[in-house]
Amino acid sequence: MTASISDILLHWYDAHARDLPWRVPPGAALPDDPAWPYRVWLSEVMLQQTTVAAVKPYFAKFIATWPTVEALAAARDDDVMAAWAGLGYYSRARNLVKCARVVAAQGGFPSTEAELRQLPGLGDYTAAAIAAIAFRQRAVVVDANVERVVARLFAIAEPLPAARKAIRAATDTITPASRAGDFAQAMMDLGAHICTSRAPRCMLCPLRQDCAGHASGEPERLPVKPAKKAVPERRGTAYWITRADGAEVWLVTRPASGMLGGMRALPDDGWSAQSDGSAQPPLEGQWRQLGAVRHSFTHAHLTLAVAALETGSGTPGDGQWWPVSRIGEAGLATLFAKAARLALAD
Ligand code: ADE
Repeated sequence: MTASISDILLHWYDAHARDLPWRVPPGAALPDDPAWPYRVWLSEVMLQQTTVAAVKPYFAKFIATWPTVEALAAARDDDVMAAWAGLGYYSRARNLVKCARVVAAQGGFPSTEAELRQLPGLGDYTAAAIAAIAFRQRAVVVDANVERVVARLFAIAEPLPAARKAIRAATDTITPASRAGDFAQAMMDLGAHICTSRAPRCMLCPLRQDCAGHASGEPERLPVKPAKKAVPERRGTAYWITRADGAEVWLVTRPASGMLGGMRALPDDGWSAQSDGSAQPPLEGQWRQLGAVRHSFTHAHLTLAVAALETGSGTPGDGQWWPVSRIGEAGLATLFAKAARLALAD
């Protein structure tokens, strides 16, 4: 009898699994730790659209600060937003707190994919990943890495996103009844290190002999991506308003909904709400132009000019004076951290 794809892959994973802080070793028993599903959930939310390397320090900080879902449920929203600062896709952090509160009120995480799917912020992928990894249920887990591996393995040439249905169905056919969590993570590791987007390392791949993409001679052509949409260029201005000889800077909290919602930030001209660049600075005075920073979001490339003003007493609307020496603790999103660095270099 020939070994199945899952047998081959799990055998490979037993020898090559990455040692990651949110994992147990391949084949290990479920940890006897009530916070285990919490750790899996937290890691999976953080890992969406974010690399393992970027997630590791944030995961460690969150677990040290909020070791259980009950602790996170009791946290202040702005503390969580500030701890998330720099990780991007901030709606994840807002949903994280909402979800923690629902889970804590329910007395813990539910263990089935269908119930997990009902929690705030949990999509198909996260619900399947938690069911498989945290609860050892059979679930079909498809993230971007798995998508690539499976599109190649079965030579699925239909373009994304239409190909997702066929990719999920094909993943279903190779997902084993037991060790579905190890299987999913093995597929992710294979996608991250061997079946890479560019220059896949097929000679190291345990599935090489079963891979229709490899047989085609051009596995890197799969999956077929949709044409990239042009990303618009935007312009805006951030204001670096200081008092007390530059010892304190004026920070605002952005409105709860909308871009970077609920995050502490420098005041700006409202560029994120389609400003046409004609907005007036929030205070009268001799503004100095410090230059500009660049930042890319998924939906726009932004050039953010930074203008500075030292003020005597006036306060520009709602906000707070923040010690410049502790700006690193303000929880500024990367865009505003860049603007602050520019101002501080001035
Ligand atoms: N990406 C998403 N989930 C992951 C996991 N559990 N391990 C490694 N990479 C991942």
